[in-house]
Amino acid sequence: MIRDATLDDLAAIMALEHAAFPTDAWSEPMMREELRSPHGRYYVVEQAGRLVGYAGLRAPKGGRDGDIQTIALESAARGRGQGRALLRHLLAEAAARCVAEVFLEVRDDNPVAQALYRSEGFVEVGRRPRYYQPDDVDAIVMSLDVAAWRGAAEDTAAAQSPAAGEGPADTARGAWCT
Ligand SMILES: CC(C)(COP(=O)(O)OP(=O)(O)OC[C@H]1O[C@@H](n2cnc3c(N)ncnc32)[C@H](O)[C@@H]1OP(=O)(O)O)[C@@H](O)C(=O)NCCC(=O)NCCS
Repeated sequence: MIRDATLDDLAAIMALEHAAFPTDAWSEPMMREELRSPHGRYYVVEQAGRLVGYAGLRAPKGGRDGDIQTIALESAARGRGQGRALLRHLLAEAAARCVAEVFLEVRDDNPVAQALYRSEGFVEVGRRPRYYQPDDVDAIVMSLDVAAWRGAAEDTAAAQSPAAGEGPADTARGAWCT
């Protein structure tokens, strides 16, 4: 189940953060600020009452751009579609906030995440040499046209005729984009 993150999830998110990003994990105060910020939205994946993943978007109200801040699953939960589901929740939220373009940075040595992003329509728009320290790894900067992503998602949904109220499209309802 994917649901909104709360401050009560902070400890569990930090445990996942340290496991997924051992050399450059965010600090707990940084993550706390992310969870509290009105300029973003965080989701968690819960299984049998336990958190196994989380992801966050930063997209200040009225802004044109947004950023995928982070996304991670515990290793045992990977490869089962939950990373894509989390990413789609973030992108639906970006669409609801009228964001035109979403950016992210991904390590050059992370082909799994790159494949996920490319398959949702992200394209490489730049590189930041040696961005990740202390590992000395380049960052690939990617961006996504949110309207195009949403159009493709709606086409797919229409073709599959899913039950109403399921999936990320529902997340967008009632948000402030008019
Ligand atoms: C990146 C991450 C969030 C992806 O989540 P996931 O649940 O494992 O991925 P999914 O099962 O949703 O798969 C989505 C796509 O990712 C790619 N992918 C997933 N596992 C893969 C693997 N073992 N090898 C290659 N590509 C893979 C594929 O493109 C896949 O699409 P497909 O199933 O249609 O082929 C997850 O692997 C993770 O937490 N990794 C560690 C933290 C991290 O690197 N975060 C990203 C920081 S930028």
